[in-house]
Amino acid sequence: MTLQRRYTLTQYLIEQRRRFPNASGDFNALLLDVALACKAIARSVAFGALEGGPGGVAASAPTQVNVQGEQQKPLDVISNDYFTQMTEWGGHLAGMASEEMEQPYQIPPPHQRGKYLLVFDPLDGSSNIDVNVTVGSIFSILRAPQAVIDSGRDVTEADFLQPGCQQLAAGYALYGPTTMLILSVGNGVAGFTLDPNLGQFMLTHPAIRVPEDTQEFAINASNARFWEPPVKRYVDECLAGRTGARGKDFNMRWIASMVAEAHRILMRGGVFLYPRDTKDIAMPGRLRLLYEANPIGFLMEQAGARVSTGREPLLQVQPEALHQRIGLIFGSKHEVERIERYHAEPPEHLDLAHPLFGERSLFREEMAL
Ligand code: AHG
Ligand code: MN
Ligand code: MN
Repeated sequence: MTLQRRYTLTQYLIEQRRRFPNASGDFNALLLDVALACKAIARSVAFGALEGGPGGVAASAPTQVNVQGEQQKPLDVISNDYFTQMTEWGGHLAGMASEEMEQPYQIPPPHQRGKYLLVFDPLDGSSNIDVNVTVGSIFSILRAPQAVIDSGRDVTEADFLQPGCQQLAAGYALYGPTTMLILSVGNGVAGFTLDPNLGQFMLTHPAIRVPEDTQEFAINASNARFWEPPVKRYVDECLAGRTGARGKDFNMRWIASMVAEAHRILMRGGVFLYPRDTKDIAMPGRLRLLYEANPIGFLMEQAGARVSTGREPLLQVQPEALHQRIGLIFGSKHEVERIERYHAEPPEHLDLAHPLFGERSLFREEMAL
């Protein structure tokens, strides 16, 4: 019998580092600390109501409202603490920012400060915790501005306002039937499955690619009356299925854990929309740019998928605030391109019902230009 050879996350990172002979190893050490935080969160999530003694953590810990105006679950707070505690000591970070912290987190003495910024959503989809449905953690690593590295000064909000294309690495951990870590260090996307006996993330999904075509979409349809016309048009066409402009049937999914939807799309394709809508004009979208949209967008692009606000490529967006929200559309390339095309067309000048603009029209490709 021959043993199946599997790489650990550590081995994968060492292999990746060979591309940069002068790398110090700080980056890999930081990623391993992030992975450790994810393992600790996975354990807390898996213990559920058993965590934290009689009554469970959900019953014992107080809940507060975070900067988003959302009720924090005890596990949101615990997960945030795992991230900060397990990454602050290594000397690799200049600072951190999180969904659960209004202000940037300063690396406290006696720890040394380093050259990276860590940005994270410690628990995405946490409304699913109480019903034992998949949640996850999302993270992004940026380089700190040179002035911060040179001076070791406290980080400010402005230091984090970098477009998504500048991310050095991004990933998420998924706490589902198995715990997985999906990671990109800018050289494709790799998926690891936690072996709970070894306590190690093992490489199980090398070189993840998203199919360019799909017949599956994900959107919260209860917001339909607030959608903008291009989104409404797209969803209507999907719903019309074989009898409509698309000429094929679509399937719909909504988990209400963006990280779980992203995982499904990385595994088998699909398109996800949480678009800008008119529900609350103070909120141009539901999801947060820096620690939800950008890291997922980075992974998608690295896997050959596409990510957009509908109007512009998401990873080009210049952030204006730490907790900024944005319209987000990602997934199978040809579907996202189609949705972008619908946004680019001036609907008032087009008779969209006209057969010239239908799926099989001669003019379809020209309209993309
Ligand atoms: P979080 O739990 O970090 O606040 O994020 C939840 C997000 C995202 O995961 C999900 O796609 C979306 O909120 C769900 O929104 P609806 O409640 O509108 O379905
Ligand atoms: Mn979230
Ligand atoms: Mn969250």
